[in-house]
Amino acid sequence: MRVARTVAEAARWVRELPRPLGLVPTMGALHEGHISLIRRARRECDVVVVSLFVNPAQFDERADLDRYPRDERRDAELTADAGADILFAPPVEEIYPPGFATTVEVGGLTDRLEGAVRGAEHFRGVCTVVAKLLGTTLPDVAYFGQKDAQQLVVIRRMVADLNLPVRVQACPTVRERDGLALSSRNARLSAEQRSRALALPEALHAAARVAADGERDGAELIAAARAAIGERGVEPEYVELVDPDSLAPCERLERDALLLVAARLGETRLIDNTVLRASVAPSPMQLDPRKALA
Ligand code: PAJ
Repeated sequence: MRVARTVAEAARWVRELPRPLGLVPTMGALHEGHISLIRRARRECDVVVVSLFVNPAQFDERADLDRYPRDERRDAELTADAGADILFAPPVEEIYPPGFATTVEVGGLTDRLEGAVRGAEHFRGVCTVVAKLLGTTLPDVAYFGQKDAQQLVVIRRMVADLNLPVRVQACPTVRERDGLALSSRNARLSAEQRSRALALPEALHAAARVAADGERDGAELIAAARAAIGERGVEPEYVELVDPDSLAPCERLERDALLLVAARLGETRLIDNTVLRASVAPSPMQLDPRKALA
């Protein structure tokens, strides 16, 4: 695996390599969630590029940026082991050189949920850096986790609106055995916070169970999720049921909908989501939540 430090280097290398090329954008502190994306790219593409860039533009809190876990040596080893061909790990000045003045703003989808909590700059930062990564490495396929469901919807919108010639591939959320979605931020949880963090997957599970029993009222499904979170003494930042494409609030489960939760445990913000199925055929979470969460 080669490590590119500059945009020019990465752009030159990818031009010389076969296609299809898959890109997996990351901010490092890699875990099995990230690795699952790299492995999928490896299975589906001839060349795999992983980017590692802790993007200052998408952090709404300076302290969160400073606290973000960084271990490039370990990340490079994991990336190579998962079969990547190129690791693109540029310094901040390479992505945002003096005079940098362009940002990408996706309207509508970004002012609610994570956008409402973290501010407009969050998704502006995400979209700007992802557009730059796509422009640098020109992938045929770009891989993103369902874990960050709103990010995925926003990036799909950007790619469609700007006619970017890339296919966006969503990948399922990888979880711990007890259901907690893997996240680089989990490492910051104390033992007590780690156990209370189960409130998030339990909320999704509770709503999925109620939906499987036939409940179609959005407010009732949300109430079931909130009750489960409350049992762990966690106060959610939001619990919302939305349309998976428009992110508009869903009053009734008439077609598949996305249930999203966010909560703060001490200094650490966690998010999670699941699709609630409107059809009679239950989702894996509804059928056997333990298996779905494993
Ligand atoms: P980061 O949080 O490092 O995540 C990189 C990718 O891994 C994202 O697509 C994310 O959805 C995915 N991912 C994270 N946890 C996952 C899990 N448990 N299961 C499956 N996939 C998971 O998301 C970002 O970085 C940044 O916003 C980025 C897109 C790189 C732009 O800076």
